[in-house]
Amino acid sequence: MDYLMLADRFHPVSPELEASLRLEDACGVLLEAQAAGELRRLLSAAAEDGVPIKPISGYRSTDYQAELFRRETAEALSKGCTEEEAERQVLRYLARPGESEHNCGLAADLAAPGFEETDPAFGLTGQGKWLRKNAHRFGFILRYPPMKEHLTGIMYEPWHYRYVGIEAADLIFSSGLCLEEFLHFYSDEFYPTAQGGEDTGH
Ligand code: DAL
Ligand code: ZN
Repeated sequence: MDYLMLADRFHPVSPELEASLRLEDACGVLLEAQAAGELRRLLSAAAEDGVPIKPISGYRSTDYQAELFRRETAEALSKGCTEEEAERQVLRYLARPGESEHNCGLAADLAAPGFEETDPAFGLTGQGKWLRKNAHRFGFILRYPPMKEHLTGIMYEPWHYRYVGIEAADLIFSSGLCLEEFLHFYSDEFYPTAQGGEDTGH
């Protein structure tokens, strides 16, 4: 599994990858096996610090993502948007089916206990703050940070954490880069063979 893979409108998740995913439970949601193990560790550490966190979404099938997309688009249409406006609005916070990190099992939406829905104010809660400071220690990053919508294509989502592995998460956390920038600036280090083979020392 390539834990640095992009899953977005330009990089759809292939049906083969989705079919081959090894999923495990992480406190009520399914995630790719290694990501699930790290999320379980993260949730235990948060609980030990007195900050209980609850996953409310993990792996979503492409069919389920399609259902969510239909539902959200219908709601925007019912408020008087044109189809084009409705789709543009929804795409700021919900990926099309097959273009979501939830479809490859590497993303979890997190909440405080008692909440069933994602909450724009989550970043201001103890849970949101704890995650901002600590998620990278378990290989997770805040995937859609504020002020990066022009690069990620998605508005600030304080609840959406993405597993990338501990080494990359540490670098992303300490640099303040988003995943797109990180892959751009660090691609030589992480994918040396994909960048033209042998290192010539220049
Ligand atoms: N909410 C994120 C962008 C998703 O649907 O994958
Ligand atoms: Zn999410």
